[in-house]
Amino acid sequence: MTYSSTDFNKKTILITGGAGFIGSNLAFYFQKNFPQSRVIVFDCFRSEAVFSNGNLQSFGHYKNLVGFEGDVICGNINNLNDLSLLNKYKFDYIFHQAAISDTRVYDQKIVMQTNVNSFYDLLDIAKKDAAVMVYASSAAIYGSLPSPQTEGKERPENPYGFSKFLMDKIADRYSRENPDMVIVGLRFFNVYGPREFFKGKTSSMVIQLGHQILNGNTPLLFEGSDQILRDFIFIEDIVQANIKACSSKKNGSYNVGTGNPRSFQDIADILQKELGTDLGTEYFPNPYDGYQMHTQADIGASIDNLGFEPKVTLEQGINSYVPEIKRLHGKPSK
Ligand SMILES: NC(=O)c1ccc[n+]([C@@H]2O[C@H](COP(=O)([O-])OP(=O)(O)OC[C@H]3O[C@@H](n4cnc5c(N)ncnc54)[C@H](O)[C@@H]3O)[C@@H](O)[C@H]2O)c1
Repeated sequence: MTYSSTDFNKKTILITGGAGFIGSNLAFYFQKNFPQSRVIVFDCFRSEAVFSNGNLQSFGHYKNLVGFEGDVICGNINNLNDLSLLNKYKFDYIFHQAAISDTRVYDQKIVMQTNVNSFYDLLDIAKKDAAVMVYASSAAIYGSLPSPQTEGKERPENPYGFSKFLMDKIADRYSRENPDMVIVGLRFFNVYGPREFFKGKTSSMVIQLGHQILNGNTPLLFEGSDQILRDFIFIEDIVQANIKACSSKKNGSYNVGTGNPRSFQDIADILQKELGTDLGTEYFPNPYDGYQMHTQADIGASIDNLGFEPKVTLEQGINSYVPEIKRLHGKPSK
């Protein structure tokens, strides 16, 4: 499935964050569908450093790239010397996924440095090479604004959301100053699917609940989880959006969700059906203040400008993901 008529064969493609969840899926998409493309993954990979929340500072994992035949460069987007390793290439496309993706990191300095400062440098590379720039923004820029979340009304409520909001502003200004460039941001909602496992506790509830159930445990949810809705989107639709963004009608930052929110209870129920269990559900009080109760992407602008068309329902996504959830069950995510 190639999603658009763009021929990426013979093109040179940079994927920052390519050892992570979304980036590695993009890398394999090009390898499979455009075997003559030249794909370069740039990622700092994981070290053993953790944030104060106990999560790793970067989630890139070599196992996400086993079987990948392109170039892999281990480097930090915050380090100009590392970025200079890219000077030997001339890129046609840049998919900028590298970021501190953990929404619960409150070390503002490192979030801003990593997600914001480096974006200027990557935009400069795109400009120098006349490359198309598609970058990851996030639904976190909407904070707890009511659904549907629509481009033009943003209210980030954590350092991560604010950093992505700044990226959209930088992209907007850069687009105005460089009207010939293609610069498109994608505001991903809640993504799930293969190659997210190494994000540990920050991976989606689909795999986390799947493993709870496979452990024989009753899925554990916040009280009222049938009323807590999210716009969950399968990785294949995220890849589709990235591909279609390359031929966007106009620059901008667009929502990428299904437009069809579902509850955490739905996830637990679909998983139990798929896994053939009948463990019921246990509930506990939600410890978070100001918890977002409902997200729903308004995808009007992405349909109009990208031709984006979410194809995978939650039932279909979980169904195709279950063999991978089973394969990873009991394996270490380190
Ligand atoms: N997965 C989601 O639900 C979701 C939702 C909204 C936005 N996003 C955004 O999409 C992008 C990809 O997310 P993901 O889920 O694949 O996360 P991920 O953490 O798996 O991937 C990010 C990658 O960036 C790398 N990285 C981090 N800091 C780096 C640095 N300083 N230099 C080089 N590489 C660095 C990590 O090693 C990792 O491989 C991120 O920008 C994230 O903020 C993801």
